Amino acid sequence: MNKQPVYILGIESSCDDTAAAVIEDDKLLANIVSGQDVHSLWGGVVPELASRAHQQQIVPVVDAALRKAKIGKDQLSAIAYTRGPGLLGSLLVGGSFAKGLAAGLGIPLIEVNHMQAHILAHFIDSGSTPPKFPFLCLTVSGGHTQIVKVNSPLEMFVLGETMDDAAGEAFDKVAKILGLPYPGGPQVDKLAQQGNADRFNFSLPTVPNLDFSFSGLKTSFLYLVKGETKKNKGFIETNKADLCASIQRAIVTVLMKKLITAAESTGIKTLALAGGVSANSGLRKAIEDLKDSGYSIHIPSFEFCTDNAAMIAITGWFKYQDRQFSSLNEGSVARYKL
Ligand code: KG4
Ligand code: ZN
Repeated sequence: MNKQPVYILGIESSCDDTAAAVIEDDKLLANIVSGQDVHSLWGGVVPELASRAHQQQIVPVVDAALRKAKIGKDQLSAIAYTRGPGLLGSLLVGGSFAKGLAAGLGIPLIEVNHMQAHILAHFIDSGSTPPKFPFLCLTVSGGHTQIVKVNSPLEMFVLGETMDDAAGEAFDKVAKILGLPYPGGPQVDKLAQQGNADRFNFSLPTVPNLDFSFSGLKTSFLYLVKGETKKNKGFIETNKADLCASIQRAIVTVLMKKLITAAESTGIKTLALAGGVSANSGLRKAIEDLKDSGYSIHIPSFEFCTDNAAMIAITGWFKYQDRQFSSLNEGSVARYKL
């Protein structure tokens, strides 16, 4: 007898992207992401504006995903949504929509932890080989920096995380100091490729265990730029590429040092990257270089690294098989531990 396919609608609205995706088992049928340009005017995400934009976008984005997937909503098996962590006003929009639709259709609702979903993005059927369990995942985004030991899709443990800024936030803050538009991470990366990383030295944070800290690095970058600009008004313009290359190398060094320490202390040689900062060319190269030392390295394609709903849907699929369904009474949570 043929097994009936499971169709899951995933909804993501934790920050400034409204996203919906449909999967048929682990196969992606549609993945729609609608960004919010309004924040670039303010140099960062404005929570109230993000929430309002989600309200405007959620219906057209879900509709577009169902159309693209050629699936009627009555064919859906379950709805998975991001419960947290994220901006509460943003989470509430996706969460309320998911609950209303699941209740209306009489199908299960599945709550998803956004950080778990970033990791499980590796298991979207997209042609690349997923990492074998157990593996270590370095999740680096605008809001989070974590090293996670992943034993199975539904069993993972945080080994270390940032005590202040996230890695993406550090890139964005550095970019802001240099007058680059938000989000600055990709711009710093681009300029870094033309610069000399040996030009400026920044003292690296000394944080115990596998935890991270990036706020000191950002402050020393700020002091350097302020001090030099006092002496020479054109300092930023003439040194932009070298500044980007130097700070990028410092951030990547911090990330890689902890990841290697985690690998050595656990004996795990399968390493994965997740989150928007996985796009960074310096970080990709540094982790790819570990292949020469016998590591198995996994980086999802870019569309699954940044915030998307395909990762919410695939997490929903794993939870669906385990019958981990949620109640309509569960509220969204801004701080949601893995
Ligand atoms: O995962 P993501 O899309 O959203 C969050 O959950 O935060 O990550 C966005 C972050 C931003 O901080 C952005 O500047 C950073 O990822 N980012 C990069 C690059 N591309 C995106 N940072 C450094 N280099 C890049 N190429
Ligand atoms: Zn994210």
